Amino acid sequence: MCGIVGFAGKEEAAPILLDGLRRLEYRGYDSAGVAVYHPERGLQVIKTKGRIQALADQVEAAGGMPGSIGLGHTRWATHGEPSDVNSHPHMSQNGRIAVVHNGIIENYAEIKEFLQSTGVHFVSQTDTEVVAQLLEYYYDGNILDAVTKVLHRIQGAYALGILCADCPDRLIAARKDSPLILGFGEGFHLMASDVTAVIRHTREVCYLDDGEIAELTPDHCWVYDAYLRPVEKKHHQVDWEISAAEKGGYEHFMLKEILEQPKAVRDTISPRIQNGEVVLDGVELDADYLHGLDKIYVIACGSSYHVGVAAKYILEKLLRKPVEVALASEFRYCDPIVSSRTLALVISQSGETIDTLAALREARRRGARVLSVVNVVGSTIARESDEVLYTWAGPEIAVATTKAYSTQLALVDLIALYAARQMGTIPEAEYAAAVAALEGLPELLEKVLEQREQIQYLASLYFNHPSVFFIGRNLDYAVGLEGSLKLKEISYLHSEAYAAGELKHGTISLIENGTLVVALAGYAPLFEKTMSNVVEVKSRGADVLGLTMEGFEKPMSEAVNHTLTVPAAHPMLLPSLEVVPMQLFAYYVALMHGCDIDKPRNLAKSVTVE
Ligand code: F6R
Repeated sequence: MCGIVGFAGKEEAAPILLDGLRRLEYRGYDSAGVAVYHPERGLQVIKTKGRIQALADQVEAAGGMPGSIGLGHTRWATHGEPSDVNSHPHMSQNGRIAVVHNGIIENYAEIKEFLQSTGVHFVSQTDTEVVAQLLEYYYDGNILDAVTKVLHRIQGAYALGILCADCPDRLIAARKDSPLILGFGEGFHLMASDVTAVIRHTREVCYLDDGEIAELTPDHCWVYDAYLRPVEKKHHQVDWEISAAEKGGYEHFMLKEILEQPKAVRDTISPRIQNGEVVLDGVELDADYLHGLDKIYVIACGSSYHVGVAAKYILEKLLRKPVEVALASEFRYCDPIVSSRTLALVISQSGETIDTLAALREARRRGARVLSVVNVVGSTIARESDEVLYTWAGPEIAVATTKAYSTQLALVDLIALYAARQMGTIPEAEYAAAVAALEGLPELLEKVLEQREQIQYLASLYFNHPSVFFIGRNLDYAVGLEGSLKLKEISYLHSEAYAAGELKHGTISLIENGTLVVALAGYAPLFEKTMSNVVEVKSRGADVLGLTMEGFEKPMSEAVNHTLTVPAAHPMLLPSLEVVPMQLFAYYVALMHGCDIDKPRNLAKSVTVE
């Protein structure tokens, strides 16, 4: 949802900015731009509709952009269509101030009207241009003063990077509700929407908090609060390797990340199982607290919400407590019933999804305790939660989530087992068996991945079906939701997921000769029930691709066109195993359609606007 990067140093800025933008491209990719200051050339801006490569080509065609300080931006359009003129950086009217922005300025129309009444001429349709023009309006020789005045006037979410030609040795950064990190090096400083853009240059970072402003020169970095009082920031060391955020020979990040799942799940689980016991460092969920809960609210968006759907089945079965799963974008507006006896389990890969963050704040405001499951260390959701458990999936670059989803599921299993153990709702032997099964999950995932070629073959048979339905019950239904989302987001095929028993209540009218139905029937207690729904769609002409656990393939293959299996395992592991063939199927179907798999149209990885 837009990526920004800034560099203040002693070497050429443009190549560093372009490299940073390439690493942030997953955040938005409909247009891009850079602004670089050079003592003789002044503030130069190149921006264009299209991908970072189109921008790099223009920079090269211009003979490069000399200068050692600058800003870059990759855009996911909100206000104003993707176009050259709506691309960032935006300039003030006299060309003195350049601004890049991630977020939405909600009161931009009112400010624009005011500025127009003073004679300011706007060139773009964006909300961001008002920031550049308003800075110019307030600027009287002190850019920091102008920035604070602007920040007091604008409403909404922003991560801002500002460069003023009158003080060209420094960049200004500011944030509220959109992520922004600072990177520290010898003779240079960086700002960026996330660490992937700075890790090539430094591992030392700090996370700006809401309302903070930073001033970066090559040799200094000052951070202030909204009233320009100095703030001491804690520095963090990023502990993953740059290679984790590179394709490493794979055609797509998505495939690389699918194949990384055994490792990601192992990294998430193994430090948290010690001598057969689940240990959740930093989390205090004791028996009295858990018994006293009135409910658990799982709150998330998209695929993380689908983890929540699986979590409901898993948690309710083990804890015998009501679990409500809420779409974060709905939670805030439904007057949710939350009390001090409610535990909000907030799930987010990026830790920056604005709807999830807003729901978290609302849950806390209403008295809930928030335990979050987050992948990005230091992200806003992680920092605003009462407690956080990190998924150790490493950086996830493909827009469609895979390994983060799997690690979220593994953490849900750990939380469920931990809480059930505390509450005494799981018999000793069952607990030991489930913990042992969970420890073995990475090996089982390796086995599922061995079916890659078979899944590719099946994708080649089915990729031309224009409409696909995913059906299943209980945990199979939860995986169906995710399988369907994976397919539609990267292959653009129409697809829907249904609880298998619900099909008869309307949707079955869409089943006709050649409709593809993916039937998930791995959940043993409901195998027969789901198979009866399979027979219903088959008899109406559907082609059925079935997925079940080893041991059930014979009865399934008698009813379906093709059968895939996952290894027989503890039922709690079912979603973790079943999702992998679904991810691979979606990947290969999209590949056959020639889609841009890592950057599907209209999407962005981190959704920081409502
Ligand atoms: C789909 C996908 C999205 C995210 C959703 C929430 O592949 O990745 O549906 O799951 O945007 O994002 P996070 O988990 O970062 O809050």
